[in-house]
Amino acid sequence: MVKLGGALDDEMTRACADVRTLVSGGAEVVVVHGGGAAADRVGTELGRPTRHLTSRDGRRSRYTDAAALDTLMLGILGRVKPTIVTALASLGVRAVGLSGLDGGMVTATRNRASRAILDGMEVIVRDDLSGRLSDVDASLPNTLLAAGFVPVISPPALSTDGPLNVDADRLAAALAVALSADTLVVLSNVPGLLRDRHDPASLITSVPVDAPEEYLALAEGRMKVKLRAAVEARRAGVGTVVLADGRTDSPVLTATGTRFVTREEHHARAS
Ligand SMILES: Nc1ncnc2c1ncn2[C@@H]1O[C@H](COP(=O)(O)OP(=O)(O)OP(=O)(O)O)[C@@H](O)[C@H]1O
Ligand SMILES: [Mg+2]
Repeated sequence: MVKLGGALDDEMTRACADVRTLVSGGAEVVVVHGGGAAADRVGTELGRPTRHLTSRDGRRSRYTDAAALDTLMLGILGRVKPTIVTALASLGVRAVGLSGLDGGMVTATRNRASRAILDGMEVIVRDDLSGRLSDVDASLPNTLLAAGFVPVISPPALSTDGPLNVDADRLAAALAVALSADTLVVLSNVPGLLRDRHDPASLITSVPVDAPEEYLALAEGRMKVKLRAAVEARRAGVGTVVLADGRTDSPVLTATGTRFVTREEHHARAS
């Protein structure tokens, strides 16, 4: 499982050559992607700039009212996904673009109304169309893998309230678990978890999944979500989970970055 972070933007397709190498070697590969940066650009073009909510505990998230969800889908499904599928196709990989809506693959529960700061004002947000994953059904991607295709999967997810935005890192982790993946490589525009997010040399090379709190405290915003998702995937049986830099030449095959390991492995690495 390879997750291409939305933060990679134009550099998302760098990993495609590695996907081809893996598929040629007989591996089954699933790609999951985000697309926040592309959606922000679509929003600017349509005169619907992205707005953010800040929750009472300081978490910042995309405000996804109906117009923003539409913008997000235009960006992720209309631009990012065809770019990835085309890049894979040009390398001879038979990729199939899907979202969580297809085949009932990913269902989510809408986040409840909450108090937040929006455009400097404290409001109760009732119209946010984002949610938490509730169920993943891997039968469609499994069918495609068995037939030799590479599924390219992204938000949104299905719900009784219509499509919902869900975090792409959580989606990748949940799919990796549902597909019993051996490996989850999460690529973004940073070398991995950084002790100081402004210093790329401060890379943390391993996070113990049985005691990750100290490391979660280093992450801000969506990086915290990314870490939680990685810890959950490793705890749920995905053998290798690594956060790595997607901006390198061979980002999947050479992925070093931050590994999620047992306490014993963590201490062995440190000594
Ligand atoms: N301690 C940290 N170390 C590294 N990055 C951090 C840290 N704290 C916060 N970040 C931020 O986390 C970002 C990566 O997470 P983010 O979810 O925004 O990107 P993504 O997963 O690539 O995008 P998407 O979720 O849309 O696919 C980095 O760009 C960085 O700015
Ligand atoms: Mg993310």
